[in-house]
Amino acid sequence: MLGSVLLAASRSDSIRRVVSAAPVTRPVVDRYIAGERLDQALTTVRSLTDQGLEVTIDHLGEDVTDRTEALRARDAYLALAEALGREGLGKRAEMSVKLSAFGQALPGGDDIAYANVLPVVEAAAEAGTTVTLDMEDHTTVDSTLAILAKLRERFPATGAVLQSCLYRTEDDCRALAGEGSRVRLVKGAYKEPASVAHQDKREVDRAYVRCLRILMAGKGYPMVASHDPRMVAIAQELARRSGRKPDEYEFQMLYGIRGAEQRRLTAEGHRMRVYVPYGTDWYGYFMRRLAERPANLLFFLRSLTTR
Ligand code: FDA
Repeated sequence: MLGSVLLAASRSDSIRRVVSAAPVTRPVVDRYIAGERLDQALTTVRSLTDQGLEVTIDHLGEDVTDRTEALRARDAYLALAEALGREGLGKRAEMSVKLSAFGQALPGGDDIAYANVLPVVEAAAEAGTTVTLDMEDHTTVDSTLAILAKLRERFPATGAVLQSCLYRTEDDCRALAGEGSRVRLVKGAYKEPASVAHQDKREVDRAYVRCLRILMAGKGYPMVASHDPRMVAIAQELARRSGRKPDEYEFQMLYGIRGAEQRRLTAEGHRMRVYVPYGTDWYGYFMRRLAERPANLLFFLRSLTTR
């Protein structure tokens, strides 16, 4: 219930203004965001890769409403790709992009988003790395998968995110379980209607396991993106049963969540990739993190009242 309210608030401009301006917001935001600038993000990336972790970097931004903003998002990613190449980080650091930041929701948005993301994918390849397309709410899935298919014609390692909360996702997993396909499986962070998505968390978890079975049994590269210890254990068991070696799948978690577990899995020889967001447009991302764990909201509210 509280989670739904927070997810609705994540798309409200008036609440965005209040939350963004409150000085006490900052320490809570800092738990999840690696800074507002590229150099701050790179410092975090170096510290994580020095500990044996891999990363995927997200320049924060979503739901852009004009073409200029979309071009700015593209340019931020081009600068990021250039920095990864220059610093020799391409082997350990990839990039995650939200197509709504590239103009997907504008009229003619599929073509605009494709035109903006293509140079980013090219720049990633030059820097020796890849791009994964984040998945946003269910209205964007067809468009995102169509853009993914076009990108994969030239850049087959471009990754997708699939959300187990959606009824359609088992079919999407089957379609994307082939050779060379990289799929990041998540539970889903958006408020979705019952017509398209499981509403009960237990159903979302069961669907996650069914999707994992499909991906692990397939020929692609599963990226198990969850902080849920049960999902991590089940993924390990399914990987073992499918005869996958440790470099034939990976775990992923978000920056600021279960850091000790990230290091533990790395020390055990697993490949662990941390999703590192940076930038000034952190509001939507931050609110989704609060919605996932209402205890975070209590921490945030307590800091408001004890100032
Ligand atoms: P679950 O929500 O059951 O949490 C399991 C445990 O993890 C909790 O009990 C708690 O201990 C801890 N935890 C989870 N969330 C927390 C939080 N915010 N703060 C503190 N602790 C927390 N979604 C999407 O729709 N599109 C996308 O593109 C992506 N991309 C993405 C990339 C990566 C690398 C990850 C890890 C996740 C995403 N997500 C996403 C988010 C995903 O859909 C989901 O909302 C979160 O991962 C939370 O679900 P869990 O699987 O962690 O399980």
